[in-house]
Amino acid sequence: MRDGKLVVGIIGCGAFAWAQDFRNFANNPHCISKYCCDLSLERAQAAAEHFNVPHPTNNMYDLINDPEVDLIKISTSHEAHLPIIEAAAAKGKHIFCEKPMALKEMEAMAIIRAVRKHKVKLCVDMNRRMAPSMQALRQVWLQQRHNPKHQPWRFVELQRKQLAEEKQSNFLMSIQDESSSYRPVHLDPFHGGGEILGESTHWLDLACWMYAPQKPVEILAWGSPRLSHGIHLKFEQGDSATIVFSCTGTFDFPKEAFQMSVNASLLCNNFFVENKYYGIPGVKDEVFPLQVDDLPEIGPEGGFEAFLAKSKAQREGCDNLKHAKKQLLVDKGHSNMLNGFVDAILHDKPSPCDEIAGWTAVYLALLAIQSIELRQTMPVLAHKLEPCLHI
Ligand SMILES: NC(=O)c1ccc[n+]([C@@H]2O[C@H](COP(=O)([O-])OP(=O)(O)OC[C@H]3O[C@@H](n4cnc5c(N)ncnc54)[C@H](O)[C@@H]3O)[C@@H](O)[C@H]2O)c1
Repeated sequence: MRDGKLVVGIIGCGAFAWAQDFRNFANNPHCISKYCCDLSLERAQAAAEHFNVPHPTNNMYDLINDPEVDLIKISTSHEAHLPIIEAAAAKGKHIFCEKPMALKEMEAMAIIRAVRKHKVKLCVDMNRRMAPSMQALRQVWLQQRHNPKHQPWRFVELQRKQLAEEKQSNFLMSIQDESSSYRPVHLDPFHGGGEILGESTHWLDLACWMYAPQKPVEILAWGSPRLSHGIHLKFEQGDSATIVFSCTGTFDFPKEAFQMSVNASLLCNNFFVENKYYGIPGVKDEVFPLQVDDLPEIGPEGGFEAFLAKSKAQREGCDNLKHAKKQLLVDKGHSNMLNGFVDAILHDKPSPCDEIAGWTAVYLALLAIQSIELRQTMPVLAHKLEPCLHI
């Protein structure tokens, strides 16, 4: 700690750290970034210079052995999580780790063991659950699930009673992505693990968070574990989530759209910028500000159409989206996750996405891959969701 603030070291200075970590730590008034570390010293130095971090290094033990450091952020490729977490936890550092927490079951178990043994907090950055628009969607879902309201013009057939299936919700997550942009590291089984582990852990976690305290009980997946795939996840009270992930889409259109149907209503989240609610009297649509908006003069009213207009303007005259001069980032909950974790450390509260949430998403992703390989539905086993470790 320094002056009541958490001292931070960031390991992995790649694309994600540039887009989120350095900015979000700088914006948190309770953090001081002291180190940035990368296997490539050049990359660490470039980040240090750009974001004004005093100590670039290519040796993670510089941060881990520094008694002043309280919190380590891991934004490396996935296979590096376990050795970093084991070393950092042994020195009493709290850890904020990118998703997926691990690529294999035993790696995840070792991570859970390390953080519990050394009594440090872990947060896995499955940030969608912290997006303001998702939190608002969940409130409306809870209300309509447990205390439904209906439009006066709703047509109800009186010759039969409501059936059990009609009380269950479905959470449809439609993801379209452009796989030409994926680097080999994303698809490599050793470093990235493919798109179910690398990406769909986000939406598996979102489904578990949305339906908590219900537990998932069954999973069926189809397609390719490393590229386009679908996953159907069923929960103990019959609610379900369906993820449809297509890699043959385009960056010209927003990547994620969500629809929940529940008790004769439809709750839509359009790429984290607007929620539209249908079938519930008195519930108003909502718009959500962007995390970064370099084009505030376009579509100042906000919402999905405004976002499309901003994106179109951003792309005009741009020969490679990677080098776009104006930045647009919708609020997927990254800074809320960081701020929530900092608060959890400072006030000894539960992590906003702890090691069990991290493991659950990995476990479900591994089951989804098995489901594809075996072409069958897989049971989600209760004992796996609550591992009993001898620490
Ligand atoms: N939460 C999200 O929404 C989100 C979005 C994008 C990426 N990510 C995650 O962020 C992480 C990084 O992704 P990226 O796109 O920035 O990858 P990247 O390849 O651009 O950067 C990773 C960096 O980590 C460095 N590195 C690897 N192993 C290391 C080690 N042992 N010690 C120090 N440095 C090491 C590499 O040299 C590289 O510079 C991944 O886990 C990815 O899944 C999360």
